[in-house]
Amino acid sequence: MFSRAAVRSLTASRAFSTSSRRETKVAVLGAGGGIGQPLSLLLKSDPLVSSLSLYDIRGAPGVAADVSHVDTASEVKGYAADQLDAALEGAKVVVIPAGVPRKPGMTRDDLFNTNASIVRDLAAAVGRAAPDACILIISNPVNSTVPIVAETLKKAGVYDPRKVFGVTTLDVVRAAKFVGEITDKNPTDTVITVVGGHSGPTIVPILSQTANAKGVSGEAYSKVVHRIQYGGDEVVKAKDGAGSATLSMAYAGAKFANSVLRGLNGEKGVVTPTFVKSPLFEDKGVEYFSSNVELGPNGVEKIHPIGQLTAEEEKLLEACIPELKKNIEKGKAFVSQA
Ligand code: NAI
Repeated sequence: MFSRAAVRSLTASRAFSTSSRRETKVAVLGAGGGIGQPLSLLLKSDPLVSSLSLYDIRGAPGVAADVSHVDTASEVKGYAADQLDAALEGAKVVVIPAGVPRKPGMTRDDLFNTNASIVRDLAAAVGRAAPDACILIISNPVNSTVPIVAETLKKAGVYDPRKVFGVTTLDVVRAAKFVGEITDKNPTDTVITVVGGHSGPTIVPILSQTANAKGVSGEAYSKVVHRIQYGGDEVVKAKDGAGSATLSMAYAGAKFANSVLRGLNGEKGVVTPTFVKSPLFEDKGVEYFSSNVELGPNGVEKIHPIGQLTAEEEKLLEACIPELKKNIEKGKAFVSQA
């Protein structure tokens, strides 16, 4: 999962000074959960992570003790429910998979009532204890939790739009896998840009911009687009009440965290889709949008435009915009009404 360039960049930073290693402390909030546990394990094996701080309202010290035996250089520490600020101290990257997952029949928006306040309170703590950190939000509904984090940080006077990210990587991972399956190509060679947001109709895969995918048409096209948009439901249904995607999400979360860390370490050309404060559809009232983003030493370096779309993709985008706008406004209203 970790590129040679990632390993090289760590080696280089070690050669220059040991203090740069200390700068890569990563905190996971919700580390005891279905995503949090395997995500913590994967972060433990990322050479760009020098210190791992695991927090949850239950179970994090146990997960930390377990993960800490893995034979990589990073240190791991677990924190109990009343140790949130200590867990965040010095963190450069904070990953948030805290909150409840879906059960069969639920949409991501159905999680809003429970997860909105969890995410708001965690964001307030990051604003207090690690105001310079990049925040990677996994907790659903991402289309609303990202504005919740942004508005909370604004209230605290520490909002930097370059450092707040909604993690949409699982949609990108699914797109590569599902299209790779129907085109008989290796998913690694089928990287597809997915734009918009992270829920059913707001997930807009752009197959036309990938050589191995642009030939997909007709019924095969409609089917695979639907599968990318609703792939999460397959997992929710198969788990039959025991939650939603955890292992593939942990993989996607670790992959995205590695991209952010490579950008922070000064690697050039790290580009991936993520849901951020974006000018692309501001004229349509959409403040946050996922598109290809170049990552750098301060988080977001450059937001790429979405490029040329086919008529079918334009239609998907048309369906995405009003739903996304509604989700974003709901998140913003939650913080302003508090
Ligand atoms: P889970 O229920 O297995 O784990 C959630 C963890 O959060 C639990 O350990 C719980 O104790 C902890 N938690 C609850 N309140 C907390 C707080 N105030 N502070 C710290 N920890 C707290 O759920 P799972 O499956 O790990 O999912 C977590 C979230 O990720 C859900 O909202 C889910 O919808 C979302 N998700 C997002 C995806 C994405 O693509 N962005 C994909 C799959 C899930």
